[in-house]
Amino acid sequence: MSDTQSKSTNIVWHEGTVDRRRREAINRHRGLTIWFTGLSGSGKSTISVALEERLTDMSCRTYRLDGDNVRTGLCRDLTFSPEDRIENIRRIGEVAGLLRDAGIINLTAFISPYRRDREMARSLATDNDFVEVFVDASLAVCEQRDPKGLYKKARAGSIPNFTGISAPYEEPVSPEVHLNTGEQSIQQCVDQLVKYLIDNAYIETELAARAE
Ligand SMILES: Nc1ncnc2c1ncn2[C@@H]1O[C@H](COP(=O)(O)OP(=O)(O)O)[C@@H](O)[C@H]1O
Ligand SMILES: [Mg+2]
Repeated sequence: MSDTQSKSTNIVWHEGTVDRRRREAINRHRGLTIWFTGLSGSGKSTISVALEERLTDMSCRTYRLDGDNVRTGLCRDLTFSPEDRIENIRRIGEVAGLLRDAGIINLTAFISPYRRDREMARSLATDNDFVEVFVDASLAVCEQRDPKGLYKKARAGSIPNFTGISAPYEEPVSPEVHLNTGEQSIQQCVDQLVKYLIDNAYIETELAARAE
């Protein structure tokens, strides 16, 4: 499933008349991807939900793509094998690209354990419109939280390929934002992210003022 070449021939791109810049001008913010990566239980879903709430209060247009959610539809044919994880991230990367083009701030919450796959998702983006967020918490902290009881099952050997236990997690080398959820509160993490977006002019001043 990881073949990235198109299997179709005779494909001709049909250009529209409304482009991303016009959509962004209406939205008063850039279309961008905020790519959360981290161990299961590190807080990707929790922080993306809280950030989306804050951005929506500021009248930003947002959309969340979350690991388990996409696996019920778009990626329901995929397993957690290394090959299928690559295909999973490839599809998310493509969908994130469509959402950027739609001028939307999309927040993706996937473990995305392989550096190469995150780089592939990043390579589809341009103009700094890919913000990688390392949601960092130690394995011990994540296992202590175990919000879905998955570590318990993984330790018992009933979940194969479980990141951190029986499958690797490759930490980001230079993420745009590094959150330490073992020490920072959810609120502090959201504040740090909103500040990053404002400081880097992803959101126009008028909307940014609503973050106060
Ligand atoms: N600072 C924090 N940031 C994010 N989550 C936190 C934090 N402190 C405690 N938690 C808790 O940790 C758990 C993280 O779970 P979740 O967001 O589902 O992780 P993930 O999506 O990365 O698998 C939640 O139960 C959340 O309430
Ligand atoms: Mg999650």
